[in-house]
This record gives sequence, C-alpha cells and structure tokens, in this order.
Amino acid sequence: MALGYLRNSPRRITRGLLDSQFVESLVSPNPVERYIGLLDPTWSRRDVRAEVVGVDRQTPRSVTLTLQPNSNWAGFVPGQHVGLTVEIDGVLTTRYYSPASRPADKRLELTISAHPAGKVSNFLVKNARVGMILGLSPAEGEFVLPSSPPGELLLISGGSGITPMMSILRTLLGDEHAAPITFLHYARTGRDALYREELERLAAEYENLNLVTVLTRETGPKLISGRLSREQLKSIHGDHANAEAYVCGPESLIAAAESIWSQDQLEDKLHTELFSLPEPLVVTEDAVGSVRFTKSGVEVANDGQSLLVQAEQGGLSPRHGCRMGICHTCVCRLESGTVRNVRTGEVKTVSNELVQICVNAPVGDMEIDL
Ligand code: FES
Repeated sequence: MALGYLRNSPRRITRGLLDSQFVESLVSPNPVERYIGLLDPTWSRRDVRAEVVGVDRQTPRSVTLTLQPNSNWAGFVPGQHVGLTVEIDGVLTTRYYSPASRPADKRLELTISAHPAGKVSNFLVKNARVGMILGLSPAEGEFVLPSSPPGELLLISGGSGITPMMSILRTLLGDEHAAPITFLHYARTGRDALYREELERLAAEYENLNLVTVLTRETGPKLISGRLSREQLKSIHGDHANAEAYVCGPESLIAAAESIWSQDQLEDKLHTELFSLPEPLVVTEDAVGSVRFTKSGVEVANDGQSLLVQAEQGGLSPRHGCRMGICHTCVCRLESGTVRNVRTGEVKTVSNELVQICVNAPVGDMEIDL
C-alpha cells in the first residue's frame, strides 16, 4: 500500500485472525493488507509504518517530526539510525536519520535538516504535516554507548549530527547518569542551533552537564566561535584524555577530531559517525571508458561520478538509502573493473565483489550487475 495521509484509525485488529489463510481466501484476489490499509494506513503485517503526530520547526532549515510507529516497530538504541521512507511524486524514497528521542519514549522524534541536494529532507522541511504516514526500517548502526556507560563523556556534534547526541544525552540524564558530561555542539549561527532551549534548560538542571555551543559563522564578545581545534578543545574541556568521546557531524568535524585524538594516541577513546553527504572526490582522469550495467543492458560513458549517480543518469533506479556510505542499502556486485572510493580516495580493482555504489566511482571501464 502506498504511504500517504491518515484518514481513519480503527486500531483494534486481531493479528492472528488477519494472518489466517481463511480470511485471505475470503478477500482474494486482493491481499487482506490492502483492505485493512484503506481503514488504517499504519497497519501492516510486517512493515513498520508511522503516523506523524507532531510537527515542529525549531529552525528555518529544519523540521522535527514526532512519530507514532505501528506495533511492528522493534525500538532502537540511542545513536542508531533508521530508514525513513517517504512518497514523493509517487516514488518511495528512503533516507537515514537518527532518532533524538529516548528508547523509553512511546513516540519517536526525528529532526531533519534541509540539505541542498537532499530530496527527502527538502520535501519534509517544506511539506511535513500531521497525519502523514511514513515507512520506517529497523534501527541499525554501531555508534552507540556500551551497555554500561563509561564514566566521563565528551559528546561533540555538528549541525544535524546533534540528533543521536540528544538521544544519548536524554537517555543518560533520564537514567540518572552522575558522571561528568561535556556536550559540545557546533552550529553555523545561533538561529541554526537545534535543541538550544532544551539543552540550556538541562544544563541549568543537571550539575554534571557542561554545555558549550560554538558558532562557526558568528562572532561576538560572549560567543565561542570557530572550528574544533586542539586549543579550542583545551579551553573548553581541559583534558580530553580522561573522557570517552563521541563525535557526530560533517566530515570536517570528524577529520579534526580524528587528527587530535590520533596525535594523542587516544584513538580507542574516540567514536565517530559521519552525518552529512561527503564532498565527492571526482577525479577527471578516471572519467574514461564506459560503465556497462549488465542486467539491464544499459551502457553509459564514464563521467567519473559515483556508480549510483551514473546508474541514475542511465535511467536505472538502484536501491539506495543514505547516499553517504552508511546504510549499505546500495550494495551491488561489480563484475569487473577498478573503483575509487570518493570519500577516501582508495583505489581497488574488483572482480565479482560487493561494493557500495553511492561512494565508489569507476576508474575506466566497469561492468556492474545491475
Ligand atoms: S546508499 Fe547507504 S551506503 Fe550507499
């Protein structure tokens, strides 16, 4: 059933009865799911669907959705991400976002920031409204705290990378975690700073929470400005070697943190999650030969962009999610050729190997099972 808007909601449906072959035979030739879907668009035997029950616009470029998932939702661990599927112009499109709510909350909160190339984020920032029905994938991801949280914590986020940190922070404070937590958030300007009021309220309420907001494009006498550096970190935290650090945000923030922690030989205390589309590395010398999509018989001249983009330009619609090398939804078999990872620059020759086509671009001729 297509995702859409909620019209009516009879909630109490006996799953055992609806799953029975007897009922299925009564409604043949259409599956029972189709009829129930007319009454309750969130109902599904297996799929996770969620109704938008709240829409808030904290900043001009973001939207915060409160979602009520159906009974198939199995929950998440703070720091994980979920695939959110939206119907845009009749096409189901999925992107990945990290919940900002706590697992203990009945409802799921997602804050989505518009990105210039973000089809789903731009659509939701403009069009999200109460009653919309969205698809959800099971939660996944390794960017989580260990089951018994470490002592001192340093949580660093940039832009919309704040969402998994909010989930981690809200969960820790809800569980009365008493060890020191430094929450360091980078926003472009004060107007772009997500969750600012709530964070200031929490910092006033919890003695163990030290909140620092750094603005990267605003300066002023009482403001902390600039990007993450050793000097800035020292002035904010004192001794980061004592803390377990979690960093989520754009590539520049992750790179700065990795450089500081590796110089200090503290790599095992640093946990990172990239939270933005990477700047693609397009190497013009690679843009030679052709890319042949063997299953569909399509062939395109190699223009050096990622295999996913070139497949789309050739009229194909490969499965994908995050488009940034996180979710693995786009993995395809490369039959032969050489690829360059557009994020790391790593080049490797492959033969019948599975690769993420959103972050790999062909170097010369390529054959791919698509
Ligand atoms: S689309 Fe998510 S890894 Fe490629």
